[in-house]
Amino acid sequence: MNTDDSSRWHPVARSADLRPGANIVAGFAQGQELALWRSAGGAAQAWENRCPHRSVRFTLGQVIEERLACAYHGWQYAAGNGQCVGIPAHPAMQAPRNVCAKVFGAVDAAGMLWVSLAQDASAAPPSLASAVPAGWHFCRTLTLRAGAQDVRDALARRGFASDEAPDAFQGALDAVKTAALVLDAQPQLTFIHLWTDAPPGSDAMKSLHAAARNLRSTIETQG
Ligand code: FES
Repeated sequence: MNTDDSSRWHPVARSADLRPGANIVAGFAQGQELALWRSAGGAAQAWENRCPHRSVRFTLGQVIEERLACAYHGWQYAAGNGQCVGIPAHPAMQAPRNVCAKVFGAVDAAGMLWVSLAQDASAAPPSLASAVPAGWHFCRTLTLRAGAQDVRDALARRGFASDEAPDAFQGALDAVKTAALVLDAQPQLTFIHLWTDAPPGSDAMKSLHAAARNLRSTIETQG
């Protein structure tokens, strides 16, 4: 398993939270601010959250079919390569070819949207598909004021193993089977997306919620 940081795929959001041709979600991976969205055709997009024109956040804009339109001057950028394809103030003008949103690798797998910040992110590892066993349910996303490596170490001490992908752990919290997907968001901000085989509304799911709160306070206070 390659755990080199540049090769990591980061679990940035639940796939279901990005609706085709609709919303734009803000995200972070290793300090990189992201605009996450889905074209009308369903293709996942992860872009630097800055318009290349005057740096306004893309998350303020809107999705128009296969394009993202900036909120400020309305320049439109194409899903896929991020190329500027339209300037509303000059509809007859050919959009400059060198104006392009910064696009990162994005793939849906195991119910999550994964993003790679690497230069060449053409191939996501097939192991991402096994990060959450089929049929498991989303529990919650924990927010921790702690570094990602401290969180990974804390999970390992609790018997969690990451056999599939570097940031996809599996183990148990309060005897409830749990997949813990770690997102290194910022230097002292880490998210854990928790999935479980416990059905929604079950006592086991409630136990997992309580165990997750305890896990957070333990890591934040003791590591
Ligand atoms: S800042 Fe985005 S179009 Fe001008």
